[in-house]
Amino acid sequence: MADAEVKPQRKDLPVEQARAELSRHFSEYRGSEYAEGWAKLWSQGDFLPWDRFAPSPALADTLVNHVELVGHALVEENGEKRRKRALVPGCGRGVDVLLLESFGYDVVGLEYAEGAFKAAQEYAAEHAKEYPVHDEKVGKGSRKFVRGDFYKDEWLVDAGLEKDTKFDLIYDYTNLLQMEHLSHPGVEIKYNDAGSVMMNPFAPDSPNALERVGHWHPADTHKVGKDADGNVEDYIAVWRHH
Ligand SMILES: C[S@@+](CC[C@H](N)C(=O)[O-])C[C@H]1O[C@@H](n2cnc3c(N)ncnc32)[C@H](O)[C@@H]1O
Repeated sequence: MADAEVKPQRKDLPVEQARAELSRHFSEYRGSEYAEGWAKLWSQGDFLPWDRFAPSPALADTLVNHVELVGHALVEENGEKRRKRALVPGCGRGVDVLLLESFGYDVVGLEYAEGAFKAAQEYAAEHAKEYPVHDEKVGKGSRKFVRGDFYKDEWLVDAGLEKDTKFDLIYDYTNLLQMEHLSHPGVEIKYNDAGSVMMNPFAPDSPNALERVGHWHPADTHKVGKDADGNVEDYIAVWRHH
């Protein structure tokens, strides 16, 4: 099958300029309209600077080299083995959904933008074969792309799941899960005009806060997460419930 049409990108901008352009774009979408800003970019389709058509090397590194923290895709429950459920909120083209599926997870890729939802389905139809089973003993999981807003619960039903469904693994490379949301669940987090979190870093954790159990530079990451000499600047952070 021929590749689905991908529009030539408006500008092949250096990273700093692309960030500035994104920041200018999102200055027109405040608060609850923020997700609409993403939807607009996907519908225009010619300025998607985060879209790399390849899964995150940092996620692959974590799944292979940090099993002590994230475990395997199969878990024993009530004497039976089941596949872990994974969620990729704001999955974009869905590349990390395919990676987790190849590692054996049952994955939900959630997207607000219709353009991204379509792009993910088309990409998976054409490229899933490029994501072979990682471990024959574990096998392949499943994938489902769902449209919805991460901050509301309706999409769980669309995904065929109960409203109180818990995921075993949530992977975010999109800033949807600012760390402050994890240490202060249910608390409104304020942002300044530059999009930075305005929160006292020494504020005590809120009830039901997750705890951070790992924080490191991954062995590899996308080029945008490296300095000019190729040193990895990105971090992986792993959080879990107490
Ligand atoms: C920077 S992109 C990252 C996409 C993908 N994770 C990747 O690494 O290529 C952020 C994505 O999150 C989606 N998004 C933003 N807000 C969302 C929300 N509230 N619910 C679901 N998806 C959202 C956007 O449509 C966009 O595709």
